[in-house]
Amino acid sequence: MPATGDATAAFDPARLAMPIGEAMFSQRAIRRLRPDPIPMADVRAMLEAAVKAPSGGNQQWARFLVLNDPERIREFGQLYHEAWWAKRRDIEGWSGPQDIPAGATVARSAMRLAGEIGAAPLIVLVLAEPPGPANSVITCAQNLMLAARALGIGSVPTTLHPDVMERVYALFDIPSRAVFHLCIPMGYPRGNFGPTARRPTAEVSYLNTWGAPVPWA
Ligand SMILES: Cc1cc2nc3c(=O)[nH]c(=O)nc-3n(C[C@H](O)[C@H](O)[C@H](O)COP(=O)(O)O)c2cc1C
Repeated sequence: MPATGDATAAFDPARLAMPIGEAMFSQRAIRRLRPDPIPMADVRAMLEAAVKAPSGGNQQWARFLVLNDPERIREFGQLYHEAWWAKRRDIEGWSGPQDIPAGATVARSAMRLAGEIGAAPLIVLVLAEPPGPANSVITCAQNLMLAARALGIGSVPTTLHPDVMERVYALFDIPSRAVFHLCIPMGYPRGNFGPTARRPTAEVSYLNTWGAPVPWA
């Protein structure tokens, strides 16, 4: 049975009280998920945060297809697995685990997710009504994932592959006009949140003129 929980009470933003710095600095890709169901009240909290994100002209094109039915997730998981390997074939020319270099830890972790996503307790497909440009939709996805972090729920943004899109749309009755952006598996982590490794801000930021250093460079 899909998880339910009390999602009908008025939403209280205080449920997302984690300091924003803590959420941002400890949010990392969580690909190993526990099977425990996510309460529907938490699903709602994440969606309430997602829709607060900005969009061009406040057009609010983003749409969220929430999957919590284990059987539907299992079916989708097979398509995700196929899509992940299709991407590897197209991009790296890999056709199986033996082709992934030993040091490619992100790829190995992503491969494991491709094998396990069918057992995730929750997946949110982020789509949009047309024209649904990415820059007005990704803002929502990041809010969704930060809210998840504040609730102790792990997530990772992922994509699919053209090979599977028709079947994904058919599986969930998604109208062909809808624009797909991200597939976000979610669940309580097997493992820990943050910290993350990123380039220093002084390396990626300029002041007033491209290439001009920031004061802490
Ligand atoms: C557009 C986009 C596509 C991504 N696609 C995948 C994916 O297909 N599979 C996956 O496991 N992770 C995917 N990721 C997650 C990234 O690998 C991850 O955010 C990045 O390695 C940083 O991880 P960290 O926050 O743990 O340091 C994607 C992230 C973005 C933003």
